[in-house]
Amino acid sequence: MSEVAEDWRGHPAPDWRRPAIGEHPIQGHRYTSREFFEREFEHMWTKVWLLLGREEEMPNPGDWQREDVGPESILMVRQKDGSVRAFYNVCQHRGNRLVFEEKGHVRRFVCKYHSWAFMPDGELNFAQDAEDFPQGNPCGKVRLNEVKCETFAGFIWVNMDPEAGPLQDYLGPIWEDWSMYPVADMRRYLAYTVNVPCNWKVIQDNFNESYHLRSVHPEAAVQIEEGYKETQFDMCDEAHGRMVMHAGYPARSLEGNKLRAPLMALMREWDLDPADFRGRERDIRLALQRQKRKLGPERGFTHYDNLRDEQLTDFYHYTVFPNFAVSITADGFHFLRSRPHPTNPEQCVFDNWFYATEPEGETRPVGTPAGLVPRGAKVEHEIIDYGDKSIGLGMDQDMSITTGQQLGFRSRGYRGVYLSGQEARIRRYHEVIDEYLQGVRPHGRLNARPASVRSI
Ligand code: FES
Ligand SMILES: [Fe+2]
Repeated sequence: MSEVAEDWRGHPAPDWRRPAIGEHPIQGHRYTSREFFEREFEHMWTKVWLLLGREEEMPNPGDWQREDVGPESILMVRQKDGSVRAFYNVCQHRGNRLVFEEKGHVRRFVCKYHSWAFMPDGELNFAQDAEDFPQGNPCGKVRLNEVKCETFAGFIWVNMDPEAGPLQDYLGPIWEDWSMYPVADMRRYLAYTVNVPCNWKVIQDNFNESYHLRSVHPEAAVQIEEGYKETQFDMCDEAHGRMVMHAGYPARSLEGNKLRAPLMALMREWDLDPADFRGRERDIRLALQRQKRKLGPERGFTHYDNLRDEQLTDFYHYTVFPNFAVSITADGFHFLRSRPHPTNPEQCVFDNWFYATEPEGETRPVGTPAGLVPRGAKVEHEIIDYGDKSIGLGMDQDMSITTGQQLGFRSRGYRGVYLSGQEARIRRYHEVIDEYLQGVRPHGRLNARPASVRSI
């Protein structure tokens, strides 16, 4: 595993040391049991920072966005001073859900039951028959219940734990890694939310390994090196994972090293002639890096100046504990998130979104994981059920596997995982979930794994 002492600018590198991993059994009940599901929500989901909203979708004071996590619904609201605050989406009169829409703009949030009205800062501003309350007028006294909220990389993060530490500490090396990319300035070009018949961890496990690439996504080898011996796997004490895959040449597993159309198109985009690389296909990656470095800034890709050479071609895939994964390239952010169903452990909600950089003067369509989208297009958020329609080849392939795996987890014949070395991040993830369930996390112990984490 690579360990870098300092980054390319001479700054101390983010700490991606690899924590020790135990012998953790991971059995089917973790994905099917209602009791495990409830404990997970109580002890883990309510104690972690969650990537929930996007700042650009609520630019003005009074703009708001709603996101649900399991049984909870959270409102994020832009304030007069430009900050964002988050609240449980529940009226404090008699518990009605305050809003049902996805996003909007308000002067006040008015509950549909008895018309109590809350200001964007959460304060109750109107109650019908206010003089009739024996406790006195509730206005000015009652507030929406607030949730910790911070912003980073253009996203809004919340934590339901009132004692939670800062987001930056929670993200650990991810904070520095992502700060190199212009994530906050990227624009959304794909937004599918899919109800999938599997536990949320099935999806997250899949994004924690690349062992499935050759069998499930054979076409990825066209321009990504998927072999585990040439992939860098990292983990950190904060429980997040990172995987770095070279891209810009055909994978070794691809017969004959033959160049295929997508890579040839990329080469031509950067003024490279595929014919010049016959017999030396492995040189393409470095040639692409040189061309992007040379031509990028004059073509409006000024953010390349902040990236290392390898970041100009390679895939950096992160898993952020507990439920977020992203593939970052020099020009895009493939946003992959799974969220638990409100009550059913065998259902989840999967978000397959894509954000792209917006180089000045660039007019060519954006290559998203679901095909080309015209530059500048307004992309609507679509909420669908599994199987309704394609959400892009790669994610269709992943989803088709996860549903079958969920069926297998129900079987009394399944004994639990039998993991390879390159799947170690899965074991680590489950170990950390159990640390939450046992109360070892979130407080203290971030840097010391307990000697005896039992499987649950
Ligand atoms: S429950 Fe909201 S006003 Fe009564
Ligand atoms: Fe996959």
